[in-house]
Amino acid sequence: MSWIRETELRLIERLTANILKAGPMPKHVAFIMDGNRRYAQKRHVERQEGHTQGFDKLAETLRWCLNLGIHEVTVYAFSIENFKRSREEVDGLIELAKQKFSRLLMEQENLEKHGVCIRVLGDLTLLPEDLQQLIAKAVVSTRAHNKCFLNVCFAYTSRHEIANAVKEMAWGVEQGLIKSSDVSEGLLSQCLYSSNSPNPDLLIRTSGEVRLSDFLLWQKARELHKESQVLQQMEADRTCVTELLQHRGNGKPMDAQSRQTVLLNYTASREERVRCFLNALQHKRDTFFNDLSSQAVVALNFFFFIFTNL
Ligand code: FPP
Repeated sequence: MSWIRETELRLIERLTANILKAGPMPKHVAFIMDGNRRYAQKRHVERQEGHTQGFDKLAETLRWCLNLGIHEVTVYAFSIENFKRSREEVDGLIELAKQKFSRLLMEQENLEKHGVCIRVLGDLTLLPEDLQQLIAKAVVSTRAHNKCFLNVCFAYTSRHEIANAVKEMAWGVEQGLIKSSDVSEGLLSQCLYSSNSPNPDLLIRTSGEVRLSDFLLWQKARELHKESQVLQQMEADRTCVTELLQHRGNGKPMDAQSRQTVLLNYTASREERVRCFLNALQHKRDTFFNDLSSQAVVALNFFFFIFTNL
């Protein structure tokens, strides 16, 4: 089944959509796609069939979301914990993902028509190289689309994402792009894989369980009020400036206006450092996907060459 189905909605779907549209609509919905094995067991079908039908239900859901005007969807498709399942099940899930991402690459026209941007959030290095390349191609080829966003969390856990954000900030300090005093909750949020998305308004777990299972923990934790985040940052800047003045001023007191000027200059230079660091981080991530994607093109051309010369 394709990622976005083009067939007409059924009467019941249209009716339900109209009822839903009468109320407030979430802008961003996240799904934990579980219950596939229980479904397979209940229907007496193979486990892999349960996962395949799970994907089909995702495609159907994406179509509903498009119709409802929900512009962003995030799905938990494969957790890092899932690697602990049997070899057969993991191989089956990886194979399913390869099929679906290859299929996605054949649906470029449709994705362009709906302006769908695909993002894959997770540690891709944990995946087989051919799947990494397919994913990168899907991400790079839809990067410019901006009408709706599908974030596929693959080889993902929230703790891994947070640990990775901390590593990115440590890299920034090592490279001299930011100072350790620039590290803050706000900066960590901007280093997450999901930094380009607003936090989801609604989280649905398809099997009906109510656990988060290490999914979007940071994003779903009660958000610190924007104002208190700004106040926290101002307080941190003030502390840094006080330390700076103690170092520089040889204990001489400074008038309030000069102190304020030093503080403003400090804040401006911190903001500039952070901006440059975030640009460098985005560049590093884009380069990772671009390199993988061009390897995929080389591999595809190679197979095409072999095939046509046999
Ligand atoms: C959890 O259900 C679901 C998964 C481990 C896999 C979900 C993935 C897909 C449906 C394919 C997605 C692929 C792409 C490319 C988006 P479960 O196996 O834990 O079922 P249970 O809750 O009944 O045990």
